[in-house]
Amino acid sequence: MHKKSYDQLRSARWFQPDDLRSFGHRSRAMQMGLSREDWEGKPVIAILNTWSELQPCHMHFKDRVEFVKKGVLQAGGMPVEIPVHSLGEQLLKPTAMLYRNMVAMEVEEVLRANPVDGAVLMGGCDKSTPALVMGAVSMGLPFIYLPAGPMLRGNYAGKVLGSGADAWKYWDERRAGHISKEEWEGVEGGIARSYGHCMTMGTASTMTAIAEGLGLCLPGASSIPAPDVNHQRMSADCGRRIVDMVWQDLTPDQIITQSSVANAVTVAMATGCSTNAIIHLIAMARRSGVPLTLDDLDAIGKTTPVIANIRPSGQDYLMEDFFYAGGLPALMKELGDKLDLDAMTVSGQTVGQNIASATNYNSDVIRSLSNPVYREGSLAVLKGNLAPDGAVIKPAAMDAKFMTHRGPAMVANSYTELKSIIDDPQANITADHVLVLRNAGPQGGPGMPEWGMIPMPQKLLNEGHRDMVRLSDARMSGTSYGACILHVAPEAFVGGPLALIETGDMISVDIPNRRLDVELTEQQLAERRENWVPPKPHYERGYGWMFLKHIEQADKGCDFDFLRTEFGASVPEPEI
Ligand code: FES
Ligand code: MG
Repeated sequence: MHKKSYDQLRSARWFQPDDLRSFGHRSRAMQMGLSREDWEGKPVIAILNTWSELQPCHMHFKDRVEFVKKGVLQAGGMPVEIPVHSLGEQLLKPTAMLYRNMVAMEVEEVLRANPVDGAVLMGGCDKSTPALVMGAVSMGLPFIYLPAGPMLRGNYAGKVLGSGADAWKYWDERRAGHISKEEWEGVEGGIARSYGHCMTMGTASTMTAIAEGLGLCLPGASSIPAPDVNHQRMSADCGRRIVDMVWQDLTPDQIITQSSVANAVTVAMATGCSTNAIIHLIAMARRSGVPLTLDDLDAIGKTTPVIANIRPSGQDYLMEDFFYAGGLPALMKELGDKLDLDAMTVSGQTVGQNIASATNYNSDVIRSLSNPVYREGSLAVLKGNLAPDGAVIKPAAMDAKFMTHRGPAMVANSYTELKSIIDDPQANITADHVLVLRNAGPQGGPGMPEWGMIPMPQKLLNEGHRDMVRLSDARMSGTSYGACILHVAPEAFVGGPLALIETGDMISVDIPNRRLDVELTEQQLAERRENWVPPKPHYERGYGWMFLKHIEQADKGCDFDFLRTEFGASVPEPEI
């Protein structure tokens, strides 16, 4: 059922006309060793590869891309590999989040400017997924998302290690003096022992599950461990399938709809999703022209139990176990009619057709709705006089005693100030305090770094405490845990109420009623606002300057205002 003829493909506009421009396109293609047979009558498929030698999660993409190319060739397309920024989460400073929108712009423009008809997007490490999807959605060509796949379980001295989560855990134990330098170094060498993205249900695994939940991956693709040969076969499948998608003209607007966004949110909540996913889901939905708010997310969260028993929300398991248990298709099957099974996907089949034969092989790893890991959605959205536009917390990954809490604030204006509190064994702080870090939001960080899982103060660790209420306008890693209230909007740096509180003010948190307040009157807040001095912006030139001018707050997805779909007339196709 081909809808398009060769003449109607974008790439034909470059290669087909009998004119001087096209002479140039053809002769330069031939300069690369190509012949007419390589492009004539064939869709050109861009394979956007986020490989880099500073991106350990995507190390295998250098070779894995050959499987995608093989699939494209088998199906009668012409593959072209195009490198894009890798967004390596662990090595980029100040934070990969500063560059998510830059990569989204790069992706959109690279697809627009080149003679391509469709794309396979190779990503997986945290921000790479939303960046690639946002850009490709805004361009609107048919595309498939190819997730990197999680790395193998970590291992040290017979113990299984989980990305991120065990780093924090062992670090706290080291600071409390419970493990030696040798053991710490053993953990360092064993926690990431293959290529692939983090294998806890952190931001990477959550975001690839969301991409699959949106219908942008082939069924099951997001759960296959990177080193498993199933991943190679799936990569070739992506290559074969994208060629047909181009002929069928299956564009992203036919896939990302209100229904598929709701499916993706439900999948996210059922996985016990990373708090980062909230920001990226909103950004991706808005790019697709589907309005999505924090309140929508909270509403779906309230009725969706966590059924993936994967750390950090679950207890024992990691992504490798999730794959052996049947992976995301099995989880989606357990969700049943909580999903819109008629939603279309890149496979050309509906969600219902994709998961019809899915099987759950381990009901402890992938739970049923009646035996969940956590009964109510893993995330909650709080509002109040401290966060008029919302804040986010992950009750599934914290000590339940903090569901309601009242305590005095201990305020740090910067990470340096914070360190002086947490490293001081004599600090004047109790387990009832609410430890506040501000100026760590989109503008203040800058780039909203993952500082939100504020380390436990040394004094409290020594007393045996392992959790307390922490509050910030930062994000936290998807592998983090604890009673950390994040994404406070508006952020302190732009004058949100978080900027006005002082050490000693009483903060009250009420998660069942979704409230976050400081016990100050409106008049007290107004008086303090009079004296508030806006801080100096972090950048006065370059990309950072543009970022600060155009970045939106966390509740709006941290996109640039000018990249919003409804910002101005749509961008025209390049003509000559
Ligand atoms: Fe790449 Fe965690 S560092 S996914
Ligand atoms: Mg991360």
